[in-house]
Amino acid sequence: MNETSSPKIIIAIDGFSSSGKSTMAKALAKRLGYRYIDSGAMYRAVTLYAMRHGLLGDIAALVSHLDNIDINFRVNPDGSQSTLLNGEDVEREIRSMEVSAHVSDIATVGEIRRAMVKKQQALGADKGIVMDGRDITTVVFPDAELKIFVDASDETRAKRRFNELRAKGDSDTSYEQILENIRKRDFTDTHRQESPMFKAPDAVSLDNSQMSIEEQNDFLDNLVKQRLEGIRNESRR
Ligand code: DC
Repeated sequence: MNETSSPKIIIAIDGFSSSGKSTMAKALAKRLGYRYIDSGAMYRAVTLYAMRHGLLGDIAALVSHLDNIDINFRVNPDGSQSTLLNGEDVEREIRSMEVSAHVSDIATVGEIRRAMVKKQQALGADKGIVMDGRDITTVVFPDAELKIFVDASDETRAKRRFNELRAKGDSDTSYEQILENIRKRDFTDTHRQESPMFKAPDAVSLDNSQMSIEEQNDFLDNLVKQRLEGIRNESRR
């Protein structure tokens, strides 16, 4: 898909954990020549900072450190993307089980969310961006030109995660454990007081339970094409 001559837009994607939204968002950004931002990586980086400084149990102190936490992204020569915490590449570390176990709690803290949202909005100032997360369509970019809400049944997501872990050589975690963890995270993400995840009324639903990657990509490409055509027509009027 080549939309380089088109106006640059913001594509905001929200969805449940393990719905495959990051993979889809990253690939879409690549096809469009857009920047991709994984907003979850930012909450993970703050969590890692808290772990390293012994601040997991002292949220007030962690909040007072927010000005010292610089989070950035870098595209590597092989095309992969790294999350930088105060200049250090922490991409691998932020995906660890320990970070995963604490990040949901860190992401419930209002002051932390407000600092991340500010940063995310600054990253989108020039448009030409695909960002995914839990509050991107509702809080970060409520005026995004294209909003997508990704879902898949909890069983489908648990099965995908289970297969992923098996492929990585993890045979300790059972399907039932993963399913339980996914249901727990869904509950936290949708019931927290600060920016709970919900589907924005103007977001397009994408349930990919029964979709192949190709079908999903075609679906997204068509959506983008239609939206860009709409914008071009609006500007001609
Ligand atoms: O997408 P992920 O699993 O890497 O997200 C990590 C955590 O951060 C997860 O608990 C949800 C939370 N999150 C959030 O609250 N808001 C976002 N925009 C992105 C992620």
